[in-house]
Amino acid sequence: MLNIEEIATHPFDDQKPGTSGLRKKTRVFETNKNYLENFIQSIFDVIDASGKTLVLGGDGRYFNNQAIQVILKMAAANGVSQMLVGQNGILSTPAVSNIIRKYETDGGIILSASHNPGGPDGDFGIKFNIPNGGPAPEIITNAIFEATKDIQFYKIVNIPDVDISQLTTFSIGDMLVNVIDPVTDYVELMRQIFDFDAISALFKSGFKMTYDALNAVTGPYAVEIFENQLGAPRGTVVNSTPLPDFGGKHPDPNLTYAKELVELMNSEDSPDFGAASDGDGDRNMVLGKKFFVNPSDSIAILAANASLVKGYAKGLLGVARSMPTSSALDKVAEKLKIPVYETPTGWKFFGSLMDADMITLCGEESFGAGSNHVREKDGIWSILFWLNILAQKQQSVADIVQNHWRQFGRNYYSRHDYEGIEVDKAQQVMTHLLTLLPSLEGQKIGNYEVLKADEFSYIDPVNGERAEHQGIRVLFKDGSRLIFRLSGTGTQGATLRIYIEKYEPDFVKQNRDSQEALKELIEIAKEISQLQEITCRDRPTVIT
Ligand code: G1P
Ligand code: ZN
Repeated sequence: MLNIEEIATHPFDDQKPGTSGLRKKTRVFETNKNYLENFIQSIFDVIDASGKTLVLGGDGRYFNNQAIQVILKMAAANGVSQMLVGQNGILSTPAVSNIIRKYETDGGIILSASHNPGGPDGDFGIKFNIPNGGPAPEIITNAIFEATKDIQFYKIVNIPDVDISQLTTFSIGDMLVNVIDPVTDYVELMRQIFDFDAISALFKSGFKMTYDALNAVTGPYAVEIFENQLGAPRGTVVNSTPLPDFGGKHPDPNLTYAKELVELMNSEDSPDFGAASDGDGDRNMVLGKKFFVNPSDSIAILAANASLVKGYAKGLLGVARSMPTSSALDKVAEKLKIPVYETPTGWKFFGSLMDADMITLCGEESFGAGSNHVREKDGIWSILFWLNILAQKQQSVADIVQNHWRQFGRNYYSRHDYEGIEVDKAQQVMTHLLTLLPSLEGQKIGNYEVLKADEFSYIDPVNGERAEHQGIRVLFKDGSRLIFRLSGTGTQGATLRIYIEKYEPDFVKQNRDSQEALKELIEIAKEISQLQEITCRDRPTVIT
């Protein structure tokens, strides 16, 4: 019999999970005694962990291993019957989602702060996913938060650390620990969806790709899939070893943080295709030779070409995009005569539509795309989807995108992030905008006329749940849009995001630089929000 200890603890007041779980500075976890334990005990209490089977893994960032050991010992003490844990504690977010679904477990715990930097001065996070494989809905995360507020003790077994470096099965008391290969099940799923033979033939024909894993979790997945199985030459995957601090990199696949890849793709002898994923493997960025594919366009292009891919050859049930994502996807849905849903930011809203068989494919402007194969966005899946299309079409990335614009029109799109603003200043901008909304409607500002201005709210068509305060939208008569939103995932100050969109049906006007094409709208956004006056910032931190 194992000695189960009940350790007295006291609540912290800041353990409210956001859109992507509990995300804090690593220091908060390291220096506050019981901070991790309190949150995990609260999860176990809310789901009544006794007798359950759970998946456990993370993106390998600093504190991952320590946290895994604590969680395993707490799971045993809380009567969990089986834990499926990734070898060496590694599992990407989409891989966890797949394993939860495939083995019909009762959920899973993912240790990651996604695309935020790692290390002692970086961020750490905990996500709880439910049996459908997706992030827990608010009703559960709220219950977890409530539990953290009056926690008195946590349960743990007092044993030395266990070895999870080998693929074995062992017991901690009555709990079975199954150390699983992080990659195998995921590869099998990708093989069911995509034509590996066609993609292999593409690589054989001399097609060159560089995939930057940014020293994060997707390295082992990418080496196995792109190099070992699809036959891309060694070295196709760069920065392929998951490192605790991501080698000092910011593991966010965008134009600012995946700098080396962007420079390579802009060089004279660039590969044909460039791609990257984030810390936990759910985001993706794709690039052609000297060509950046905007994520909103990418989702639309995947939807438009889905019939070329074996996993979607039967057609799409419907599609969905988050509200700030450009409406390029809507144009495709119209042509395919399938429904398109506009949801609040965050993947859980898509999960509900997928569970009800209302959509097959979905995505967000923030480098996230996915389908009903799992209940998370999926970086490598997105890249394989592109490779499959490239193999079928035998055209360059730029040609595929430009032909798409020619057929559907181009939605010029950009996101401007103002990071690390003082929280009250950011709030002031939003409050100012909210009071301004009624007076905006019908107003002519420069060349643009406001059609409608409101705050976005959503009622989930499946379960009737309401989501309020999901961003401010200013919609113009010509289809252009300005969206203002506060980030729910930052860990320092506030991040204000401004999303700018303009539709251009005329193909001779489709090859402008997007910042140039959106210039007037960007000025209008600054003007009506009084951003500069309130925050003293005159330019964004990140432009996508
Ligand atoms: C950001 C993205 C959002 C995404 C989330 C999790 O959230 O904007 O689309 O779902 O990360 O990856 P935000 O910081 O904007 O709340
Ligand atoms: Zn992520």
